[in-house]
Amino acid sequence: MFSRAHDLSWGDGGERHVPAGLDLSRPSSARVYDYMLGGKDHFAVDRAAGELLKKNMGPGWDSRRNGLDNRAFLRRVVRYLVREVGIRQFIDIGSGLPTLGNVHEVAQESDPGARVVYVDNDPMVLVHCRALLGDSPTTKIISADLRRPETVLDHEAVRGFIDFGQPVGLLLFAIVHHLRDDERPGDIMAVLRDRLAPGSHLAISHFFNPGAERPEVAAKVLAGERIFNEKLGTGRFRHHDEILRYFGDFEPVEPGLVMLPDWRPDPDTDRSMFPGYHMFAGGVARKG
Ligand SMILES: C[S@@+](CC[C@H](N)C(=O)[O-])C[C@H]1O[C@@H](n2cnc3c(N)ncnc32)[C@H](O)[C@@H]1O
Repeated sequence: MFSRAHDLSWGDGGERHVPAGLDLSRPSSARVYDYMLGGKDHFAVDRAAGELLKKNMGPGWDSRRNGLDNRAFLRRVVRYLVREVGIRQFIDIGSGLPTLGNVHEVAQESDPGARVVYVDNDPMVLVHCRALLGDSPTTKIISADLRRPETVLDHEAVRGFIDFGQPVGLLLFAIVHHLRDDERPGDIMAVLRDRLAPGSHLAISHFFNPGAERPEVAAKVLAGERIFNEKLGTGRFRHHDEILRYFGDFEPVEPGLVMLPDWRPDPDTDRSMFPGYHMFAGGVARKG
């Protein structure tokens, strides 16, 4: 199942076993993101893509800070859903490589019985998740593709684990922007929303284009978008209203769709980067 990667260097410069079936000639969104977060699970090809992005996005853009803000948003959202709403079951689609403060760890700090299904389509993510997290009575890891949402919802492990008659926390952090427009992300989101019981909550973080409100930033993110699409596969920086549509008719939870550090900040949430620019907008909404 494993092969050696002699000609590739990892984040820590070492040589390790890599799972078979990985395409190591191209960067992957999971590994570039890991590089941005300061992790160790990336290759030279991923670092090159990350550096190219940094160079082209300019000095107002701090990739590591954006990644950390996204993880901090994830933690605040999950805590809110467990403590203030009482959600006890989560589906985390595009869960990524395990890092500090994974969803089940955050949820189970407040409710040890909270259940989480992690979903990703990257083979390296799955190998790492299984090795580091493992399936347990409260955690499952599955391989499925968001582009075919039924394969997530109808997956045997999901159906046996998630009670769709009860509220679910459906989490899509930093993944919907990897769907191209012609993959019809709006329709995909509608299929997911439709399956949820009333009281369920949907949380999204997404690459953000401020448009006419900040034309200088809009120009930068369009340059970033080009690099994503040429070098990394996919990445769409969408406008506020485009992202808002993914929530359908769900009721927005205050303060709505905002730049991540503005979403229910903790007393120690770092908002110092303003008036620089953030790459992500995010929000949460409730099915009535
Ligand atoms: C940037 S990472 C985000 C990780 C984590 N959700 C976070 O916000 O910290 C995006 C993840 O989505 C996964 N992904 C991308 N497209 C996907 C798809 N069509 N189906 C399932 N997972 C996908 C990638 O493999 C990667 O792990």
